[in-house]
Amino acid sequence: MRKLLAVLLLPLSLVAVPAGPAKAADDCSAVPWADKRKSPERRAQALLAASTQHQKYRWLVEQPANSPQQTTWAGGVVYPVQVPCTPTVVYSDGPDGVRFTPGVTAFPATIATAATWNQPLAYVKGAAQGTEAHDKGKNVLLAPGLASGRTPLSGRTPEYLGEDPLLTGLMAAAGTRGIQSTPVLAALKHYVANEQELDRQTSSSNADERTLRQIYDLPFEIAIDRGQPASVMCSYNQINGTYACENPRLNDVLKGSIGFDGYVMSDFGSVHSTAASLVNGLDQELNRPIWFTPARLDAALAAGEITQRQIDAAAFRVIVSYIRGGLFDNPLPATPVEDASTAAHKAVAREIAEQGSVLLKNDNVLPLKVKRGDTIAVIGPTASSTPTNGISANSVCSLPWRFGNPQTLQCEDLISPETSIRDRAARAGATVTFDNGSDLVSAAAAAKAADVAVVFGYQRAGEFNDLADLRLQGGGDALVAAVAAANPRTVAVLQTGSAVEMPWIGDVPAVLETWYGGEQMGPAIAALLFGDANPSGKLPMTFPRSLADTPTANDPARYPGVRAEGEAIRQVSYSEGLKVGYRWYEAEDIAPLFAFGHGLSYTTFRYSDLETRGDGRGELRLRFRIANTGKRTGTEVAQAYVSLPAATGEPSKRLVGWSRVTLKPGETRTVEIRLARADLKDLHLLEYWSSQGWKTATGSYTVHVGGSSRTALRDTFRVR
Ligand code: BGC
Repeated sequence: MRKLLAVLLLPLSLVAVPAGPAKAADDCSAVPWADKRKSPERRAQALLAASTQHQKYRWLVEQPANSPQQTTWAGGVVYPVQVPCTPTVVYSDGPDGVRFTPGVTAFPATIATAATWNQPLAYVKGAAQGTEAHDKGKNVLLAPGLASGRTPLSGRTPEYLGEDPLLTGLMAAAGTRGIQSTPVLAALKHYVANEQELDRQTSSSNADERTLRQIYDLPFEIAIDRGQPASVMCSYNQINGTYACENPRLNDVLKGSIGFDGYVMSDFGSVHSTAASLVNGLDQELNRPIWFTPARLDAALAAGEITQRQIDAAAFRVIVSYIRGGLFDNPLPATPVEDASTAAHKAVAREIAEQGSVLLKNDNVLPLKVKRGDTIAVIGPTASSTPTNGISANSVCSLPWRFGNPQTLQCEDLISPETSIRDRAARAGATVTFDNGSDLVSAAAAAKAADVAVVFGYQRAGEFNDLADLRLQGGGDALVAAVAAANPRTVAVLQTGSAVEMPWIGDVPAVLETWYGGEQMGPAIAALLFGDANPSGKLPMTFPRSLADTPTANDPARYPGVRAEGEAIRQVSYSEGLKVGYRWYEAEDIAPLFAFGHGLSYTTFRYSDLETRGDGRGELRLRFRIANTGKRTGTEVAQAYVSLPAATGEPSKRLVGWSRVTLKPGETRTVEIRLARADLKDLHLLEYWSSQGWKTATGSYTVHVGGSSRTALRDTFRVR
């Protein structure tokens, strides 16, 4: 079931207290759980059979599981030393890179990876990240992150992969496989319906079953089916009134219908019970023992609230996942590597920054045509490494953080856009002036004096807080407007974690969205602006004209939810149902500013000749032609969507596949997006959730193909 990737329908910490390794006296050659010739299941069973009850308990909490020699924890919690020959394991956040760690690559934010629509690149990034983690003495990455993009105000939008279940699921699967190609485990997070930071620990995401299955579970299901993560992290919020980490969905949906066979870990402080959590499927409490202490587990067992089987099953899942992932056989280095960021990893960071940047608008200004003697005004605080009122390129290199670190990644090797644009301009004989944008008059004067102006706008978004609005921060809208008014040849470069409104869009001829571009943002942005690289990124999320157009706007019950007088929990009504992301805009007939899937190139593409063929055995082939009608080689992400028969009640078409195609000027190619039988079934490409489970409706389906969700070609087929 898992090997289908070859078929390619889509062409494709925490503070873990360190403990010593197994004591020198331990002879691991005689220990069956250290025997690589045995299956992981046999090894895990042998280990459990040799364990005392309290040694088993150690696996149920991160720190005791991972520091086998440590025996005492805060609050007088004591365990026996673990059985011999089990590994030291160290967890590290996070999705973008190995967080809070010097000497690692600062990759672009996850949302930028999503915008590449490039699964092999997501894999390569995961592998690089896994290698760096291991070199740094960490062997579980709390990554990839994913959600469903319910509101662009969600603070964690840049940590996730956008608003479509298929794109998100497949990109997360690729990243997972990359991480797990090294002896490092991936923990997919946060399950589930974790769509806002506001009251994230005291809110309930209330949705009907169909919405949960199709919009919120589905990206996890796809990532699990195709990526096989060792772990899934349950989220802070409640789902329909029950906390995620003690919600029956863990057993019924995640481990049941989805078939996840790794271990469920909690988020940091997201556990609220002992028995209810264990019984409903939580296997490991993150960080130190609080709810899964020996005393509490013993008491729950004695009271008959939990069973020995449930304890053994949870411990087994953790151990077998560690063994399968190679943690027992590949010890962490005794001394971490000082500089784990290699030239090859930096090249991956740059590739993602280039391929993930999205050219939103271009009226003949880009690529820059610079002559000897020209001047380019580079404007705005985030263009430069020198802070202006505390803001610099570093502020948008990775996600903002609190608790001591200003950013999740340290970006020690950050190359600023100003530096790279200056270097590239010099090669063309042009000069760059820099203005930090703090004074509008001075910024406008700098723009006016130059042949072309490149103005940078930013929005900082991250964990703990939702955004208050979708505006550029630090007076960015006024800055862009002032620069554009002074020079008609203005390019706006955006460094945002989510969508932004663009009140100035009519006055600015070119807009390039670069997200949080990581340490190689400078070279990537310069290459794109000067045309050394041709943009190919596509939006993984809708950019609305205004916040008021978004699915959760204009109804506080939807967002931020309502907390009744005297109640502890904020109730968030997911009453928009399936109408999330582009599904909303299409169903409500609201024109977005830039649609899901949109992204321009310096060349142009023409689509033609769509035909849909079945093979008579349940496979579908969507075939069409793409021509490069411009003057440059370019890569197009051709997207295929399908609308289901009206009787299914689906609000809009849905993404079913895509293909990245590189074409020379004048070249035409036939592209085939193959929806294999297994893909149709495992990824639920044409299915909908009904009271009887997943179903395929009979009737007429429409295929839509083009360069964005506002597509060009149509064809129909029938399912009998
Ligand atoms: C976040 C998780 C993260 C954990 C450990 C929590 O605040 O929600 O995503 O993995 O901290 O850093």
